[in-house]
Amino acid sequence: TPPGLPPSLQDLIGKHPGEPNVMDPELLADPFGGYGRLREQGPVVRARFMDDTPVWLVTRFEEVRAVLRDPRFVNSPYSVPGHTGPDPRDRLMEVLGIPEEFSVYILESILTSDPPDHARLRRLVSRAFTARRVPDLRPRVEKITDTLLDELPGHADGKGVVDLVEHFAYPLPITVICELVGVPEADRTRWRRFGADLASLEPERIGASFPVMIGHVHELIAARRTDPRDDLITALIRAQDDDGGRLGDTEMVTLVMALVLAGHETTAHLIGNGTAALLSHPDQLRLLKADPGLLPHAVHELMRRCGSVQMTQLRYAAQDVELAGTRIRQGEAVQPVLVSANHDPRHYGDPERLDLTRQSAGEDHLGFGHGMHYCLGAALARQECEVAIGRLLRRYPDLSLAVAPGQLTTQVRRRQPGAWRLLGLPL
Ligand code: HEM
Repeated sequence: TPPGLPPSLQDLIGKHPGEPNVMDPELLADPFGGYGRLREQGPVVRARFMDDTPVWLVTRFEEVRAVLRDPRFVNSPYSVPGHTGPDPRDRLMEVLGIPEEFSVYILESILTSDPPDHARLRRLVSRAFTARRVPDLRPRVEKITDTLLDELPGHADGKGVVDLVEHFAYPLPITVICELVGVPEADRTRWRRFGADLASLEPERIGASFPVMIGHVHELIAARRTDPRDDLITALIRAQDDDGGRLGDTEMVTLVMALVLAGHETTAHLIGNGTAALLSHPDQLRLLKADPGLLPHAVHELMRRCGSVQMTQLRYAAQDVELAGTRIRQGEAVQPVLVSANHDPRHYGDPERLDLTRQSAGEDHLGFGHGMHYCLGAALARQECEVAIGRLLRRYPDLSLAVAPGQLTTQVRRRQPGAWRLLGLPL
């Protein structure tokens, strides 16, 4: 049985009959079907977010893309002229159990920043993720992948059952991002726990874990100040020194935390969801095995069809905006829904079908967002997924699901807004 929502969140649902809430059990259990129905109601749908915060859901491909590249929509409510508060996200912090003095680490991240701060933060980190740096990492990603495949329990006779999420999809990206950022090996299991605590949505767990995580990042940065290495934390410290402190200490902690968290959970679940989708579609699996060169394109289609991030951050209208016939007033919140945009039949023919040769899947899906906040780790995530799935299928050509595909959807999915993840993937 999947864990339901914690009671503190369950209490928040259903206060506004007739307006969907992103926490509605129906949407959580079946986001593809649920958001699909809302998408057919209209491109902009009045809804509620978490508690009873009103929000406009943006459901169709063209409109989602338009919002994400429209500078009239901003990521921080404080960028709305005349904003006097309260910050609608404060309630969310409270519900999630994040102590008030720590909410700054969530609310002032690169993702919730706007120009000119956003450009400054993005420039500082993007060097580490450039198109040149990511291919350099490939041999290391391959080595980590091979080691994990060697160590899969039950691999010796090729007949055992293994949980791929636990033993492969999770450890691969967390090892890669920790090496890149500069988290020592001994601390990596802690990050997995931090990630799991946040994903639980249980306020007690988050409230206990969050301050420990922040303290840990402060210690990491302090350690690199006296012991510089070839890693991202050291690079950020240098940039901070060279640039006259234009990266604040809180900003640095927030960046490091965001990179480690954003860099592992999302990628782990893309590997999990993608592998499950392939093994549930034997014709597509055959196609890929016959032509491994299809892999980069296949990863795009897997992202489109079953990406691990369902929505972006909230956006706020910095002025009155007319969007597909709906008037959005200054300060109102807008939620672009990536999962429904990526399944919009106005943009993709037969969108529910997994088709690794689909022309339009190429570069244009919205699984990594779009515009200024387009995922900084997209090239790295795609590379990890290509290496992971490619090497897994080559090493274990007879791999198959140990449960029926239907059981994966109904029994193993964790119900959580924003993320689409397999709790386990028994193979
Ligand atoms: C932003 C998805 C992997 C770091 C985003 C956004 C999405 C996304 C949808 C945009 C959110 C918005 O506009 O509100 C994903 C998915 C991944 C993945 C599905 C894996 C399959 C990674 C990795 C890293 C990373 C590996 C780090 C190495 C970031 C950062 C941002 C971001 C720093 C914020 C960029 C900005 O605000 O300018 N990601 N991501 N992500 N992602 Fe990823």
